[in-house]
Amino acid sequence: MADKKDQRLKIKTIKNGIVIDHIKQGRALDVLRILGIYGNFRDAVTLAMNVPSKDLGRKDIVKVENRDIDSSEVNKIAIIAPEATINKIKDYRVISKERVSLPELIVGIIKCPNPQCITNKEREPIESVFIVKQKDPLILSCKYCEREVSSPVLLS
Ligand SMILES: Nc1ncnc2c1ncn2[C@@H]1O[C@H](COP(=O)(O)OP(=O)(O)OP(=O)(O)O)[C@@H](O)[C@H]1O
Ligand SMILES: [Mg+2]
Ligand SMILES: [Zn+2]
Repeated sequence: MADKKDQRLKIKTIKNGIVIDHIKQGRALDVLRILGIYGNFRDAVTLAMNVPSKDLGRKDIVKVENRDIDSSEVNKIAIIAPEATINKIKDYRVISKERVSLPELIVGIIKCPNPQCITNKEREPIESVFIVKQKDPLILSCKYCEREVSSPVLLS
């Protein structure tokens, strides 16, 4: 039988970079997409999906070496992973920890599911704007067609 110690999560530490922790289960790949990290990224990226968490049951974690994060990326992460925490690592230590928070208006990030919406017009579409009606569970409403959305799809 496995020793209790061996059941703990082991991921190599990073010297400098960011750790996005407490990501909703299954959303780590979306976080990488928000950060623009694809196959051509050169620094170390570690990713854990569906690992046990005290508060969330299961969670995802993303660690990126030599990378910072800006407020627009943090806002996008808040939409798909409202419990996420952003830890900045310097010289192997956590120097800041920030819980993401949703902005009141989400501009140009989410696709309206209504095909008739003016934000989906083939010619000269308008940038999407969603109003946060409720945070938990998440309910957004399209500013233009008022379509309500609870599982937002990010624009690519
Ligand atoms: N040098 C490092 N390299 C990689 N990951 C790190 C490093 N330092 C901390 N972490 C990770 O960053 C996250 C936050 O670290 P911290 O030490 O604050 O853990 P914690 O006390 O569990 O925090 P929280 O209360 O947010 O869960 C954890 O997932 C931890 O594994
Ligand atoms: Mg923890
Ligand atoms: Zn709409």
